[in-house]
Amino acid sequence: MDKIRIVGGKELLGRVEISGAKNAALPAMAAVLLTPETVWLENVPYVRDILTTRELLGSMGVEVEAQENETFMLKAANIGALEAPYELVKTMRTSILVLGPLLARFKKARVSLPGGCAIGARPINLHLQGLEKMGAKCDVSHGYVEASTTGLRGAYIQFETVTVTGTENLMMAAVLASGETMLDNAACEPEVENLAEMLCAMGARIEGAGTRTIRIRGVKKLKGCRHRIIPDRIEAGTFAIAAAITRGNLEVANCNPKHLASVLSQLSLVGTEISMGETGFRVRGHADISSKNVTTYPYPAFPTDMQAQYMALMTQGDGTSIITETIFENRFMHALELMRMGADITVEGRQAMVRGGRPLTGAKVQASDLRASASLILAGLAAEGETIIDRVYHLDRGYFQIEKKMAQLGAEIERIS
Ligand code: EPU
Repeated sequence: MDKIRIVGGKELLGRVEISGAKNAALPAMAAVLLTPETVWLENVPYVRDILTTRELLGSMGVEVEAQENETFMLKAANIGALEAPYELVKTMRTSILVLGPLLARFKKARVSLPGGCAIGARPINLHLQGLEKMGAKCDVSHGYVEASTTGLRGAYIQFETVTVTGTENLMMAAVLASGETMLDNAACEPEVENLAEMLCAMGARIEGAGTRTIRIRGVKKLKGCRHRIIPDRIEAGTFAIAAAITRGNLEVANCNPKHLASVLSQLSLVGTEISMGETGFRVRGHADISSKNVTTYPYPAFPTDMQAQYMALMTQGDGTSIITETIFENRFMHALELMRMGADITVEGRQAMVRGGRPLTGAKVQASDLRASASLILAGLAAEGETIIDRVYHLDRGYFQIEKKMAQLGAEIERIS
């Protein structure tokens, strides 16, 4: 199993190009199931979750061809199995995103229940309730959701909790339903908006994506399209913190700084210099890092997917900061590993108190999930001596060659087998 080895203490300097967003590419790949025509997806990142989705779609009969320049050609003309098996779903919860499209186009689907994961229980009740309101029958037995319908119809659905993939799943179901669907308290993450753009390019009629209320008028069928995946705002944010924590100076290119407004404003609050551009931004870290509290909320507030990385930065703050996680109930596993590197953190329920100013020292640590892995890399860059991060398969699920990108910026970092 691969590990990442870092020798800390080098400032990161130069320019980094951000890859396509995994969390936008995954629903886009599922949306291909809505049409028998060819779909071209550009800027797809070659990360493990994408390859797993490719395997999942392939097992259903979708033709998938990866071309140069991260462009995928997909065609769901001859679908054989309307099923997402446990073996694939267990490694990637997002497989649940095939449920909405399969029901909408084929009126039937069998998808394994994803189960819990390291960061929390992550139920799918809101996906199922929404589909039932649209006229589907969803039975859960033997670890599978067995769903069927005589035809989906539009409905008014108000989410009791904001859910990103829940909003995406129901939006994909609603585009081929009869009549109008209104999704209220919908997620307004840029990835949801990006999916809506793709669906509209396929002929769907969607208004309001990117706001809390999305209106979808069903159409009879959808056509193929060419669609570009947005840049990964979490990868961009991770590099911004890499510059801040190493007191480096980075140009983070090929991204949309507007998608990162809450993260960049938090970074300026702690004393990092940020200059915004249209398709990128510059981050200059300063010796003094102020400790500032943060609370995660759905977009456009500070994202839960940046919480672990921000915690690494706060270990170097000048005082005490409180980090509150409101999205997932168990997303502080990285705190224990950061403490093994010398950080002073107390976790109580959904809050972590980080007392800054303690120098980090390199250690052997274990990644528990994707963003925790990124947090440990950031800590390793700032730590004195050698850090070895184990279980980097979590990292490979969502970051494209992060160690290579960081090495090019001057970090002493390598992958070891
Ligand atoms: N929730 C329910 N019932 C549901 C669905 C969600 O109670 O049916 C709860 C969850 O338990 C959680 C909250 O609602 O407490 C929000 O979860 P959400 O459904 O929004 O999460 P998700 O759609 O499963 C996506 C991202 C995550 C990201 C979250 C929050 C993708 C593929 N995944 O997950 O990304 O953390 O939204 O922004 O888009 C990551 O990239 O590292 C990652 C975990």
